[in-house]
Amino acid sequence: MSLDATDPKPQSGVEPGADRGRPDAFRTPMEIAWQFDYEIGIERLRNLYSKSKRQQWDAERDVDWRLEIDPARPIIEEERFGFGQVPFLQRLSRSQQETFRAHVGAHRLSQFLHGEQGALMTAAALTHAVPDYEGKLYAATQTMDEARHVEVFERYVRRLALVYPISPFLKDLIDTTLRADRWVKIAIGMNMIVEGLALGAFHNMRRVTTCALLRSIVEGVLRDEARHVAFGNVYVGATVAKLHPDDREDVAQFAFEALMAMVEASGSRKGRPPQPDPSFARVLENCGIEPLDFVRGLEEARRQGIRFQQPPGTVHAFKDLMMPALVRVGVITDRTRDLLQAEGLRIYADTKVLEELEDAETGAVELPEAG
Ligand SMILES: [Fe+2]
Ligand SMILES: [Fe+2]
Repeated sequence: MSLDATDPKPQSGVEPGADRGRPDAFRTPMEIAWQFDYEIGIERLRNLYSKSKRQQWDAERDVDWRLEIDPARPIIEEERFGFGQVPFLQRLSRSQQETFRAHVGAHRLSQFLHGEQGALMTAAALTHAVPDYEGKLYAATQTMDEARHVEVFERYVRRLALVYPISPFLKDLIDTTLRADRWVKIAIGMNMIVEGLALGAFHNMRRVTTCALLRSIVEGVLRDEARHVAFGNVYVGATVAKLHPDDREDVAQFAFEALMAMVEASGSRKGRPPQPDPSFARVLENCGIEPLDFVRGLEEARRQGIRFQQPPGTVHAFKDLMMPALVRVGVITDRTRDLLQAEGLRIYADTKVLEELEDAETGAVELPEAG
């Protein structure tokens, strides 16, 4: 499919074997494991698997695609659009502001789409690699969940008629996760870090979107993601507790590096200048905004003491979800705690928000049924 934001999405109906763009392929060192002991030992994984089977929804049948996207209305509420507070952007013409908002929305939804494809592949890798029968059953259901998420976001993004490429930061993080040599690192990189990011982003999008169709999609996806984050807790926690201390440090190092990649991507790593996301530079180009003017505009806002006001109830993925999830399963060790603190990062261990959003029993999350 075309990843060019200037091209509308091509129609479906490609002939089998037709040239559809070269896949971005690489090899991984992952070990694949059979398991012939079909006894179920981890009850909570069996519960997650059972619940997952019951909660499967169909992106074609259960989403009301008759709901229209109002082209005159930005998908993110006016007063909750963070960039709306920046004087530089307020000085743009009305039509340029509208174009910018539409492209920012499409850029964000495109990241949801590509991130879901990454989740589809990591879940499939977990299905191959986890050593326990019930782990394989669960991971297979997550693989199907992620396939539905790719499908549902692709359909939505196609309606926006704008697809942006994956952010190189997100691609690197997912590729690093897929290249990991132990399944437990994949579960950390995906089910705790990338899905922590996604759970926060979906939760926040559900609160700020004006689009009823998008809200219903995100609610269905959130219900599934709650199980995915719970899986990270249930399975990784039990596995890490049994690791040899050297192996635990190896896993902890992976978690530390993945966290630092997140910090780097947010442009807030100590002593490093912020690195602009090249895929966001495309948004600016497409809106006729000079990237340098944009950066200066943000600096001006900062000098004026304007802070991005997050609406109440906004989830902060790093401090509310990712970091507490990692602390809880024991992959922030004394050594990596020191490394994080040397980078000027606080250790957040409060699991309150995480527990509210994840499927704890499974069970806690109360969202309306999709469709
Ligand atoms: Fe997903
Ligand atoms: Fe997921």
